[in-house]
Amino acid sequence: MNLEEALDLLGKAGQSHVLAFWDRLDDAGRAHLLAQVSEIDFAAVERLRGTLLSALSKTGGAGAPPAAGDMEPAPVAELSGPARAEAFARGEEELRAGRVGALLVAGGQGTRLGFDGPKGCFPIGPGSGESLFFFHARKLLAKKRRYGRPVPLYVMTSAANDAETRNFFRRKRFFGLDEEDVFFFRQAMWPALSPDGKMILEKPDSVFLSPDGHGGVLSALERSGALADMEARGLSTVFHFQVDNPMPDVAAADAVGFHLLEGADATLEAFERTGPGEKMGMPVLRGGRTAIVEYTEFGEDRMHEREPDGSLRYRWGAPSPFLFSVPFLRREAEAGLPIHLAHKKVPFADASGETVKPDAPNAYKFEKFVFDALADARCVRCLARDRREEYSPVKNAEGDKSPRSVELDLSAKWERWLDQDPWWKDWIDRQNSFGFFVNDVEIDPMFADSAEEVRHVTLSGSAGFVLGEWQGGTLVLTERFRGGCV
Ligand code: UTP
Repeated sequence: MNLEEALDLLGKAGQSHVLAFWDRLDDAGRAHLLAQVSEIDFAAVERLRGTLLSALSKTGGAGAPPAAGDMEPAPVAELSGPARAEAFARGEEELRAGRVGALLVAGGQGTRLGFDGPKGCFPIGPGSGESLFFFHARKLLAKKRRYGRPVPLYVMTSAANDAETRNFFRRKRFFGLDEEDVFFFRQAMWPALSPDGKMILEKPDSVFLSPDGHGGVLSALERSGALADMEARGLSTVFHFQVDNPMPDVAAADAVGFHLLEGADATLEAFERTGPGEKMGMPVLRGGRTAIVEYTEFGEDRMHEREPDGSLRYRWGAPSPFLFSVPFLRREAEAGLPIHLAHKKVPFADASGETVKPDAPNAYKFEKFVFDALADARCVRCLARDRREEYSPVKNAEGDKSPRSVELDLSAKWERWLDQDPWWKDWIDRQNSFGFFVNDVEIDPMFADSAEEVRHVTLSGSAGFVLGEWQGGTLVLTERFRGGCV
């Protein structure tokens, strides 16, 4: 794009101020600004402006979240006994046929964690320091070993972390996955708008842009060809999960089978909330339809509501993962999602070109939420999962949902797996009695990806030698110890 084209485009969009510093920019600055302008989807900006102006006219300025309206808790299925066995068998059949994919959303900015780099590169292994991406990818590799067919991985990035994410996978040799089974695609970036609908210049040569929310995944899947790739591979079901939770059983056979047997467009994995104060998206029935309501729109009173027996009325949260049928993703990619706005502090260039960080919200940021797609689903189900086994995300730098709390949850889970196996239990007791205390445990999913698999590895093992690597009191069981551990 050249200057004339940019002037024309921006003029028609009422955004000519974006070139306010043009005369002062050097060649690199000009090239950067033109590249940004050429990538902005001005039709989308017009929609954002419309959303903003209509929200402001309703709220008189604050852009407050809409009230959530009448609702009741959504029913949540708990699988056990023959029902679980049936679901498991159905899911295994689909995995063996190679009809299941994994969709990882990793385009967020991770502002609360404050890590310098893509969140997926964050080191989370308690002993090895392996990354979040490592644990996600190795679970898929373990599924491939078990079922003989790959579970292709689709990774959504954003402009801010795309190159670094791809390089990281390349440097780590795709963690053992085949490169052709990993598909990266970028979500869109959206500008923030001032109350009168103007884009914000963050620096003289930069428009302030941020990812269009995790709901951006639907249009990005379509735009990038990832959805077409899923269809070409004949996938029926996609396991959608977030980069910051290293715990889930990715594409678990019982969850996949449940989703298919129920004929669902979407299945939400549900976790018990720790208490009334825990903030997460919650599955509800509204007007007879299943929806997820974000805590910001939920209301304090409802979060604390209790049943007559004292239990929480909204007992379950459904922050992610979800299972989606591929035809549903196709319908939704074409349908579009509603736009949410939030009043935020957005850095801007003042008249002299200096970047100012405002003390109070000065502009509106826009996002799409993936669960808004549920409004169009013909059948949505919620499935209870064991929180201790599957949910502990890294959100904050310290305290709750921080790296330390996640490491503890991971290690506790892996210790439970070893504890359920008499051979390991005995081995750990012996180490402890010799003074080699096992403080933490880490298990590479390619050593074992479940308690049952630990047992299987033990029973099918050969000679009686050990074991894993000791890294600062952490027993790390990696793939190379498989098959020779007892
Ligand atoms: P969060 O809502 O926790 O946001 O994302 P975040 O960007 O990671 O962190 P904060 O809020 O800035 O601290 C939940 C999941 O959705 C993805 C994130 O990468 C994470 O896996 N996400 C979020 C996207 O892929 N794109 C987005 O625009 C937003």
